Amino acid sequence: CGIVGYAGARPALGIVLDGLRRLEYRGYDSAGVAIVCGDELLTEKKAGKLANLEKILAERDAADCDALGIGDGTTGIGHTRWATHGGPTDRNAHPHVARDGRVAVIHNGIIENFARLRAELEADGVQFTSDTDTECAAHLISIALGQLRAAGHADSPQLLAEAMRQVCQRLEGAFTLLAVDAGVPGAVVGARRNSPLVVGRGQGENYLASDVSAFIEHTRDAVELGQDQIVLITGDSIEITDFDGNPAAGKDFHIDWDASAAEKGGYDWFMLKEIEEQPQAIADTLLGRLTETGEIALDEVRLSDQDLRDVDKIFIVACGTAYHSGMVAKYAIEHWTRIPCEVELASEFRYRDPVLDRSTLVVVISQSGETMDTLMALRHAKEQKARVLAICNTNGSTIPRESDAVLYTHGGPEIAVASTKAFLTQLVACYLIGLHLAQVRGIKFADEVAAVVDQLQEVPDKLRELLGRIEPVRELARDLKTAPTVLFIGRHVGYPVALEGALKLKELAYMHAEGFAAGELKHGPIALIDQGTPVVCVVPSPAGRGMLHDKVVSNIQEVRARGARTIVIAEEGDEAVLPYADHVIYVPRTPTLLAPLLTTVPLQVLAAEIAAARGHDVDQPRNLAKSVTVE
Ligand code: G6P
Repeated sequence: CGIVGYAGARPALGIVLDGLRRLEYRGYDSAGVAIVCGDELLTEKKAGKLANLEKILAERDAADCDALGIGDGTTGIGHTRWATHGGPTDRNAHPHVARDGRVAVIHNGIIENFARLRAELEADGVQFTSDTDTECAAHLISIALGQLRAAGHADSPQLLAEAMRQVCQRLEGAFTLLAVDAGVPGAVVGARRNSPLVVGRGQGENYLASDVSAFIEHTRDAVELGQDQIVLITGDSIEITDFDGNPAAGKDFHIDWDASAAEKGGYDWFMLKEIEEQPQAIADTLLGRLTETGEIALDEVRLSDQDLRDVDKIFIVACGTAYHSGMVAKYAIEHWTRIPCEVELASEFRYRDPVLDRSTLVVVISQSGETMDTLMALRHAKEQKARVLAICNTNGSTIPRESDAVLYTHGGPEIAVASTKAFLTQLVACYLIGLHLAQVRGIKFADEVAAVVDQLQEVPDKLRELLGRIEPVRELARDLKTAPTVLFIGRHVGYPVALEGALKLKELAYMHAEGFAAGELKHGPIALIDQGTPVVCVVPSPAGRGMLHDKVVSNIQEVRARGARTIVIAEEGDEAVLPYADHVIYVPRTPTLLAPLLTTVPLQVLAAEIAAARGHDVDQPRNLAKSVTVE
């Protein structure tokens, strides 16, 4: 879910809606706002995308003949939802308002003891108007405020913070909560446990949001909150405490993204823009990490050379597309370092009790830095005394903060739900870590590392060249849009690329798509192939690993012999594939281990274009959210 709060002197509604627009990638099942106008609370919420809410707000605006309308209040909160408890309906949309009609609450996460709390409230006569876990928090805050007032406390922003503190002590689970109360205009209180929340520091106004993109057009000064903290904002103050009310300090940071980086800039979809940004994102991720003598300088990775020499096993843990980057990394890291390396889905990791100790390095990969499955895997690894290194794109997020070390990818904001530039920059970060480890452990000499580094530095130009002649992929997409199923095959690092190609197509085009290790095809999946079934074949370079190349070419022949329509991604100049390819997409030459930086890109374009041709929302596919902050 995406969360925004504003306290200041300007009308809050527009600011909150703009923020929600930028956070909509976090969920778009429903949206809502609560604005404090004078001493009144005005709310509006609606199932579906933000546009639905905006439409009813416009109608309300036209009909509003009161002196004060929802557009006039200068304190407000807003929410865009990815449903967990209760379906995506109007009544389950946030904000949830307490029965007194004065307190409104929005929430991201899951309140695990909500059933007990709800039963208790119902026994006291509270009637619920939704199926959500969140509504409990609204009633509890309102009750706590009532008790504080009855005990003689005067209305003040601090009163709202105190009520929030009292309620948080009763909640279990993961939550970011924001609340406003009509009795204390000018203040928004937030609470954070295991879910993201950052503060934006403005001039005479302050912001709260799930991530900085919500307020980046207003301020680049942000404050990172710790776990189990309460933050109270007014137009001119930011007060942070722990759940017991002890003052706590946030960590100030400056956002160096450009606000325009989070705009579509003339593209139809963010995803297409982000695909085009990939050469720059790779270059930015390499920047400053290579010394003149070709060594990898990862100063920000706060692990000593001795720590790195002690590593005897590596686990890479991630979800979704980030998991696929980990699969590629395994090939490179094992090859370069000779350290055994396992890749594991974060949602499985801790439940199977992996063997971890002080000499295990756990690399967690996450674009958002907030994925709950990955966060829980990280915590499990730390409990088992393993060292944790995060690869992350989001400064100030939870995963890097809780890790022993971090290597940031410099992909810039990624707005489209389907990951593109984050994936390629995660690959670059993994390559850097692999080379660094090999260098520190004396397995590779500076000149060998420098040679790979040179090849990495050539990738952005090669990628620009590839993107410059991508049009035939677009045409092919229009041709494939009615295929009932699309299969993807590859070997070695081409295998995770095949998985990623299939995932993209599922996510965006809602088509049946599957990726396979090409050699595994004959052990079952080949039965799926029928006359005309499209099979995308990721072919390794014939240079260096010729045997691998020839094996994949044989696999292409096998599927073609059974009627498949073959779409072959091969290296420029590879003529061996021509007799068996119905379509060839050539990518510039690059060493096999680095090839996913190029071979993935036509598959991204293919999926986006097929989705667009089928009339789908490319940036916001149904049922998904970019950052999944529940387990
Ligand atoms: C969600 C997104 C995926 C993403 C995954 C991991 O499922 O839809 O695109 O790859 O989360 O996200 P992270 O932020 O941890 O990389």
